Amino acid sequence: MVGSGGGFYAWTLVGKRVAFTRVLERPGLFTKGGTYAEYCVTSATNCITLDDNVSFEQGASGVCNPLTALGLLERCKDRNAQAVIQTGAASQMGRMMIRLLAEENIPTINIVRKDDQVQMLKDKYAGPGLHVLNSESPTFEKDLKALARELNANVVLECVAGPIVGVISNCLPRNSTIVSYGQLSESKIEGISAFSVIGGGLKLEGFLLSNFLREKNIFQILSITKKARTLLGEVIINKEFGLHQIHEAMAEYKANMSKGKVLLKPSLTL
Ligand SMILES: NC(=O)c1ccc[n+]([C@@H]2O[C@H](COP(=O)([O-])OP(=O)(O)OC[C@H]3O[C@@H](n4cnc5c(N)ncnc54)[C@H](OP(=O)(O)O)[C@@H]3O)[C@@H](O)[C@H]2O)c1
Repeated sequence: MVGSGGGFYAWTLVGKRVAFTRVLERPGLFTKGGTYAEYCVTSATNCITLDDNVSFEQGASGVCNPLTALGLLERCKDRNAQAVIQTGAASQMGRMMIRLLAEENIPTINIVRKDDQVQMLKDKYAGPGLHVLNSESPTFEKDLKALARELNANVVLECVAGPIVGVISNCLPRNSTIVSYGQLSESKIEGISAFSVIGGGLKLEGFLLSNFLREKNIFQILSITKKARTLLGEVIINKEFGLHQIHEAMAEYKANMSKGKVLLKPSLTL
């Protein structure tokens, strides 16, 4: 932070390394004008100070996901989660949720789509509440149903969309909630039977970070951003490219999403 336009909190940030966004400068509006610029104006509450062990690179992709993870944790608690099922569990979001939910002693059923992701999560986040399933396994639905009933997994954090949502909805205990917060498959949500909504009490609801933050007052936002700092170390950077390598960078990210974030750096641009 190189300068402040006034106010005590902004003054405390001057000279500090920060991750930041420009979202919510005006309520609910995503602003243009680029956090990629050499200098950029934003509000102090859009900044998260970086601990010494967190790199600028981690900070660059570290605002949205940690804040979202904390918002989803709050939603899980609001919905009285006994256990949580999550899709896309090898993602950066998924890993943050595993950590946050374990801290609250809420068991997780983590759905991934490759065997090496199953192993990676089991190795890295081993604990009594951790369960990992591969959605490509022939016994996936049967295994999920058994586990969801056993743990009373009544909240689903869902970021893939497509037919898997219907499959999961068939495995849930009564009065469960599916929180849709992403669409990684780029498909519509499919396969939820009307009966599970009418008779089974299933609810489908959405989560969007900017809506979540808009409902918070300044003290709540400061408390959330303080906690978000502790998640920035979880951000994994896979590769870095110059702006001229945009196509290569996109291909790398699409082929290896679970390996971490891909950064575009003006400093690497030819
Ligand atoms: N609603 C909000 O406010 C909000 C805020 C932040 C993030 N999000 C959402 O959170 C999700 C995760 O973001 P992230 O940054 O943590 O992701 P990420 O680290 O880039 O990882 C993406 C993950 O999704 C998996 N994946 C991709 N396409 C898939 C598919 N069709 N079926 C199953 N798995 C698939 C990838 O697995 P492979 O390695 O197997 O490809 C990878 O593990 C995204 O949907 C993002 O939009 C929402």
